[in-house]
Amino acid sequence: MRSYQRRRGCAAAIVTVMSTASAQLSPELHEYLVAHGSPPDEVARDLIAETGRVLPDRAEMQISPEQGAFLTVLGRLLGVRSAVEVGTFTGYSALAIARGLAPGGRLLCCDISEDYTAVARRYWQRAGVADRIELRLAPALDTLRELSAEPSLDLSFIDADKEGYVGYWEEIVPRTRPGGVILVDNVFAGGRVVETDPDHTAVQAIQQFNEHALADERVELVMLPLSDGVTLARKR
Ligand SMILES: C[S@@+](CC[C@H](N)C(=O)[O-])C[C@H]1O[C@@H](n2cnc3c(N)ncnc32)[C@H](O)[C@@H]1O
Repeated sequence: MRSYQRRRGCAAAIVTVMSTASAQLSPELHEYLVAHGSPPDEVARDLIAETGRVLPDRAEMQISPEQGAFLTVLGRLLGVRSAVEVGTFTGYSALAIARGLAPGGRLLCCDISEDYTAVARRYWQRAGVADRIELRLAPALDTLRELSAEPSLDLSFIDADKEGYVGYWEEIVPRTRPGGVILVDNVFAGGRVVETDPDHTAVQAIQQFNEHALADERVELVMLPLSDGVTLARKR
């Protein structure tokens, strides 16, 4: 399990929680799990490798390969035509979501870093999914508030600054269609979510978010022990 860490983004200081490995599996079982799901293809492998090489102290922000497979398969199951991602980084999760879109489907990506997302754009192009993705470089809350109020989103993935989660949730839930799904990453806060009175603001933010989502009667929830914990919410 990767440790909980404080990190700074290029475009703005962010505090986030990262762990690409599973919080509860032995290394052997985790390796087995990864080896028995659909593996990343060459483009995804190259993206993962470049992120590790160019941004070695930030690469942990990237989702894990098993999360990538999960995003693609879930998208295909849902027949996603309209998706939103909050927190794009170098583009691996967006690539996974874009590959699961239904024909004609679109993904809107929200990030504030031109540097990180320049890497993303190259790989989306190479994977042939760039025409399905719109990237908006602005605080995600502003981007989400500009979206139509219609409940038209099929799938959303929240994976940006943890202190912003409740705000992102409150913009996304009303815009999600009945039966649509919202995924939220890092809900284990690197395992620290069970601490009493944690001293880290991002851990506190995750705790507050998890309680907020639990109390929200507009959705039904399941918290999956996938990597650093992923909440799957289905809009009623
Ligand atoms: C954990 S990383 C996302 C990882 C990405 N989902 C992946 O799998 O590669 C968090 C991202 O959120 C972005 N971010 C931080 N604060 C933000 C904000 N207020 N609005 C939009 N993006 C933000 C950072 O620039 C960073 O790229």
